[in-house]
Amino acid sequence: NKEVDINELLKELSLSEKIGQLQQLASQFYIKDSEGELTGPLKDLGISEEKIWVSGSVLGVKDAEEARRIQDKYLDKSSTKIPLLFMADIIHGYRTIFPIPLAIGCTWNLDNAVLCGQVSAKEAALSGVHVTFSPMVDLVRDPRWGRVMESTGEDTYLNSVFGKAFVEGYQGDLSSNYNIASCVKHFAAYGAVEAGREYNTVDLSDRQLKEYYLPSYKASIDEGAKMVMTSFNTIHGVPASGSKYLMQDILRDNFQFDGVVISDWGAVGELQVHGVAADDEEVAEKAISAGVDVEMMTSCYINNLENLVKEGRVQEELIDEAVLRILQLKKDLGLFSDPYRGMDGDKAKQMFMCNEHKEAVRKVARESIVLLKNDNVLPLSKDKKIAVIGPKGDSTDLLGGWSWQGRKEKITTLKENLINEIGNNLISYAKGCDVNGHDESGFEEAVNVAKEADVVILALGESSEMSGEGGSRAYIGLPGVQERLAEEILRLNKPTVVLLFSGRPLEITNLSKKAPAIIEAWFPGTEGGSAITEVLYGDFNPSGRLTTSFPYATGQIPVYYNSYNTGRPKTANTAETRYVSQFIDIPNEPLYPFGYGLSYTQFQYKDFTLSSDKMTKDDKITASVTVKNIGDRKGTETVQFYIRDLVGSTVRPVKELKGFKRIELEPQEESKVEFVITEEMLRYYNIDCELVSEPGDFHAMVGCNSADTYTKKFTLL
Ligand code: IFM
Repeated sequence: NKEVDINELLKELSLSEKIGQLQQLASQFYIKDSEGELTGPLKDLGISEEKIWVSGSVLGVKDAEEARRIQDKYLDKSSTKIPLLFMADIIHGYRTIFPIPLAIGCTWNLDNAVLCGQVSAKEAALSGVHVTFSPMVDLVRDPRWGRVMESTGEDTYLNSVFGKAFVEGYQGDLSSNYNIASCVKHFAAYGAVEAGREYNTVDLSDRQLKEYYLPSYKASIDEGAKMVMTSFNTIHGVPASGSKYLMQDILRDNFQFDGVVISDWGAVGELQVHGVAADDEEVAEKAISAGVDVEMMTSCYINNLENLVKEGRVQEELIDEAVLRILQLKKDLGLFSDPYRGMDGDKAKQMFMCNEHKEAVRKVARESIVLLKNDNVLPLSKDKKIAVIGPKGDSTDLLGGWSWQGRKEKITTLKENLINEIGNNLISYAKGCDVNGHDESGFEEAVNVAKEADVVILALGESSEMSGEGGSRAYIGLPGVQERLAEEILRLNKPTVVLLFSGRPLEITNLSKKAPAIIEAWFPGTEGGSAITEVLYGDFNPSGRLTTSFPYATGQIPVYYNSYNTGRPKTANTAETRYVSQFIDIPNEPLYPFGYGLSYTQFQYKDFTLSSDKMTKDDKITASVTVKNIGDRKGTETVQFYIRDLVGSTVRPVKELKGFKRIELEPQEESKVEFVITEEMLRYYNIDCELVSEPGDFHAMVGCNSADTYTKKFTLL
C-alpha cells in the first residue's frame, strides 16, 4: 500500500476513469438483489453499465458478504482495478444500537461519544464499511426538524466538543482495521432550515453562520475528519453543493481542509431543481468548480464532465485534484494492499450484541435519561404493583431513526424488563392506544388496569419514523390520542411516571402540569429498557441534562438559551407592560431550559469566586465554585459555566456555554470545581466580522442549568 504512488496512478487513468472515481452509487447498482441502505429516491440515473464499473464508491452495503461480492465483481470488471470505497450511515451504532445522538449529547460525557464511535466503527468495519456519514454537527434550534435527533443539540460549543469526540472514536488510528473514516455533515448550517421543514431553505446572516453554525464543523475537521458532506440547503442564496463560498473560501482556504468533499444524496443534481443551473451540464460545471469531489446518487459528473473538459468549461486539473483526494483516502484506509479491509462476516456476528457492546450501550443509555419532574414519586420501590400503560410500554420501537442495521426483534421491551426486575405478579399492562392512532376504545381497559396498581408508568411518545431524515413535524406534541389517554389516567390521581420516548423535545406543557413525574428517555437503543428500569428503581441515579430546550409551545420555536437580550426584554420590572418583547399568551421561557435535568439527590452551589476581577489579554482568571451533595444518595452533577459579554460592538447573547464538568459526589461530599477564563473564550465576530475579543465587562456564570446560575463580574483590560 505504502508503495502506491497516487500521482503515478493518476497519470495512468483516462479522463473517463478519473471521472468515475467521483461517482458514488447505492449498492443496488452493483448487484441487483442488494438489500443495502436506501436513504433517498432510487431511480434510474441514466448511467451506462460500463460506467458503473469505473465508479469510485458505494453507499449503504448490507453486510461483509455483500461488500465482498461487490468488491470482487468490481475488481474483475473494472479497467482501473482501483478498489471501491464503501460508505454508510452509521450514526449511533451498527447492530448494537446506542441511544440517538441527541440523547448521547444529554449525557454531557464526551467519553460516551468516543465509546459510541469505537463500538460502531468496529462492528461496521467488520461488515465492510470504510467511511461513516457521521458525526452530524448541525446546530439545531428548531425541534420540528426531524434531524434534531441526530444532533447533539442547540449549542455551538457542545456540538463542537461532541463532534470531535465522535471523530476520535470512529477514526482512532485508521491503520487499524477496527476503525473507519468519518464524514462530518451537513456543510453547512442544515440545522437552520426554515420552519424545521426537511430540505428547506436556509437564510442566515454571515455573522450567525460564522459564530454559531460553522465552529462545530471546524472542530471535527481539526480533529482529523477525513470527509465532509455538503448540505441540501441554500446559503446566501446558493445551494451548498454549488457554493464556492462554502467550499473554497471557508472549507479549503479558511479551515485548510484537504480531505474529500461529498454531496448529500442527489444534492448535486438538485442544483437544477433549486434553479441555479439550467441542465445537467451546468450542474456538473458548477458543482465541480465549487468544490464537490464526489457526487452521490445523481449522474451529472459521469455523464457530462468529459465533454465539459473538452469544451474547456472545466479544467482537467480540478478533476485531478478531486481524484487525488479520493485516492489518498483509499490509500489511508489501506485499500490498495487489501481491498477487503476489515470485512469479516463471522467475526462481525461475534461482535454484534456481544456482552461488551451491550454493556457499552447500556452505560450510555443510563446516562442519557433526563429526569424532568419528580414530585416524590421516584425512585420506585420494588414491592409496588405497577401498571404499565401506553403504546411504548411493550414496544420494541426503541432504537430510533438511523438504526437500519439494528434488530428490533432482539429488543427487550420496558414491560419485559420490569417483569425481569420485580416479577410477573407485580406488573400489569394495557396499551391504551396506538402511537399515532385516533382510536380511544382501549382507554377503558387502560383505566381499569391502572386502578388496580399502586403506581402507573405511562409510556408515551413518538415512533422512530417521526424523526430522522424526512421526519419534520409541524406540531410537536404527543402524536395521536396519547395526551387524551394521559388525561384519563392522570385523573385517577395515582403516583404516575410519564416516560417519554422521542427523537426531539416534545411540547408537553399541559402534561407537565398534571403529571407528578416525567422522564425523557429519548430513543434509548438496544439496551434502553434495562437502562430505564435501573433509573426507575434508583439503581442508577439519573444524571442526564438537556442539550435542547423543551418549548413551552410549538409557536415559541425557535427558543434557545443563548439568545439576544432585545431592546425591550421582559424582566421582573417590565412584566406588567405591554410594550416589551413577549407573547401575550405564553411565557418567553421554555418549559425546560438548556442544561436542565434533575437527580434523586440535591446539589448545593456555594463560594463562587473569581481569582481576579480583571485580566489582560495574556492573563487568565480562575472561576471556582464548591458543589455539595446535600441529599442522601450518590449522584452526578454537571456543573455548567457560562459567560456574557456585557457590551460589544455587536449584540452579544445573554449567556454562552464555555465549559462544563461532571462530578460524582457521595452524600454530603463536596468538591471544588474550577474553570479557567482565557482571552480566547471571549472572542466573537465583531462589527467587522473579525474573530476578536473586545475590552470591557463580562459576567461569568456558574450553575446547574442555563436558567439557574450565579454571577460574578470581571473586566478584560
Ligand atoms: O448521510 C445521509 C444524509 O445525512 C442525508 N441524506 C442521505 C445521506 C446518505 O445516506
